[in-house]
Amino acid sequence: MAKNNTPGAAAVPQHIGIIMDGNGRWAKKRGLPRSAGHTAGAANFRTITKYASSIGVKYLTLYAFSTENWNRPQEEVSALMRLFKQYLEEALRDFMDENIRVRFLGDVAAFSPELQALIHRVEEASAVKTGMVLNLAMNYGSRAEITRAMRTLASRVQKGDLQPEEITEEMISASLYTAGQPDPDLIIRPSGEERISNFLLWQSAYTEFVYMDVLWPDFKPKHLDEAIEKFCGRNRRFGGV
Ligand code: IPE
Ligand code: IPE
Ligand code: MG
Repeated sequence: MAKNNTPGAAAVPQHIGIIMDGNGRWAKKRGLPRSAGHTAGAANFRTITKYASSIGVKYLTLYAFSTENWNRPQEEVSALMRLFKQYLEEALRDFMDENIRVRFLGDVAAFSPELQALIHRVEEASAVKTGMVLNLAMNYGSRAEITRAMRTLASRVQKGDLQPEEITEEMISASLYTAGQPDPDLIIRPSGEERISNFLLWQSAYTEFVYMDVLWPDFKPKHLDEAIEKFCGRNRRFGGV
């Protein structure tokens, strides 16, 4: 694991987001159904999560299912739901030994009661963990997240708890699913697509982006190292000089 080209712990960004994209194309290249790509992608989710934790990442946010992904064919959505169930059951056994705390970003109420129960069990069982926070963005869309935050603040205004001019950026951040967490330092998108697809819009105001020409099931720990190296070579100015 500790190769010479692995950036030192101090250089590892504290919060990394990954848009796990390219499963469908990975399967298509092999003449397999798209669901086979999701199966391969899900197995890789486990590998990359463990690797990120081992190199000292503090927060890892993985985009697993967007609010727009419901528009896919029913058969593909069902295959994804089966994989979520399988991997969350596995997480209950496996990640529990890893000191990883799992949290969910998104409207989980849209999932089946069975999957929701599993989500709550994983969250509860890992709440005592003190290591890396793994955020799983499932039925997540940044616009839906911001809309929800606006509703929360608007209802406080309606009740008279809050004046509109008292609303701050911090209050908005605190009303998002990522409340209390630092903004992502680095967002990686494999698959060759160069877009954000409704991921962490508010939180990524000053995030560094690395787009990589590798499909998610082929994304290896060395690709994470490579993205971190690119990140380390960037000069973040946050609007300063
Ligand atoms: C990402 O891979 C997985 C999900 C969005 C759930 P895709 O399924 O989008 O793969 P491509 O982009 O079609 O190759
Ligand atoms: C983004 O990938 C969502 C996830 C990886 C979960 P998509 O494949 O859905 O995004 P688009 O359609 O290429 O923008
Ligand atoms: Mg895609």
